[in-house]
Amino acid sequence: MEREFFEEIHSSDSADHRKLIKDNDLVILARDLVKNYEIGDFIVKAVDHVSLEIKRGDFFVIIGPSGAGKTTLLNLIGGLDLPDQGIIYYNGVLISSMNEESLAIFRLMNSGFIFQNYNLISTLTAEENVMFPMSLAGISLKDQREQAVSLLLKMGLENRREHLPFQLSAGEQQRVAIARALANKPPNILADEPTANLDKKTSIFIQKLFKELKEEGITMVIATHDDGLIELADRIIVFEDGMINNT
Ligand SMILES: Nc1ncnc2c1ncn2[C@@H]1O[C@H](COP(=O)(O)OP(=O)(O)OP(=O)(O)O)[C@@H](O)[C@H]1O
Ligand SMILES: [Mg+2]
Repeated sequence: MEREFFEEIHSSDSADHRKLIKDNDLVILARDLVKNYEIGDFIVKAVDHVSLEIKRGDFFVIIGPSGAGKTTLLNLIGGLDLPDQGIIYYNGVLISSMNEESLAIFRLMNSGFIFQNYNLISTLTAEENVMFPMSLAGISLKDQREQAVSLLLKMGLENRREHLPFQLSAGEQQRVAIARALANKPPNILADEPTANLDKKTSIFIQKLFKELKEEGITMVIATHDDGLIELADRIIVFEDGMINNT
C-alpha cells in the first residue's frame, strides 16, 4: 500500500507548486478550492474558489460568521473531506486526490484534529479516547496509557478518566478532544473553535497551551471567535460566504 501511496503523489506532481512550497516552507498550499452541498433544490457554496497558503510554524486563524464555511474549509485542508474542485498540498503531498485509505494514514502522521463537535467515540472512556490515535500509530499499550494519563492530568481531567463521553460536560469533552489531538505529538494541529465551550479560566489555560505549542514550532490552524487565540495569530483570514474576505 505504501508504494501505491507514493506513486499517487508523484503522478500528480507540479513543478511550480513544489517550488513555491519549498521556497516558502509551506505546510498548506491550496488553489481554487470549491465545496458545494446540494440539498434538494438548494446549493450551498460552502467553500467558493478559495486559494491560501500556510507557512510552517504559523499560528493561522480563521474567523467569520456562523455558516461562513470555516469548518468545511478546515476539513478540506486537513484532508478530512475532498474538494469538488481545486488542489491541496499538505507537507508537499497532493492530498486532494488521494484515496481514503492513504489519507487516513497521512492524517495520522501529520495532524492532530480538534473537532467542533468533539467527535469522541461514545463507547470508549475519556482515557481510551485519548489512547485511540496512539493505538493506530502502533504505540505500546503501556506508553499509550502513560501518555493518556499525563495529558488528561494536564487538562485537569484526572478524575474523569473512566467516564464515557455522555458522562462528561461539554467543556470536559472538549478538553478530552484536545488531549486526544495532542496524543501522537503531531507537527500540525487543526482546531475548530477549541475553546467554544470552556469557562474563562479554562479558555485562558488552553490559550497558554496553544502559545507553548506555537513556541515549539507546531503549525496551528484554528477557526475561532476567541480574542485570546486571535491575539496569538501570525495570520488571520476573515471567511464569509465561502470566501476569504480580508479587507
Ligand atoms: N454535510 C452538509 N450537508 C449540507 N450542507 C452542509 C453540510 N455541512 C455544512 N453545510 C452547509 O455549509 C455551510 C457552511 O457550513 P460550516 O459548518 O462550514 O460553517 P461554519 O463557518 O463552520 O459555521 P459555524 O461557525 O456555525 O461552525 C452552512 O450553510 C451549512 O449549512
Ligand atoms: Mg464550524
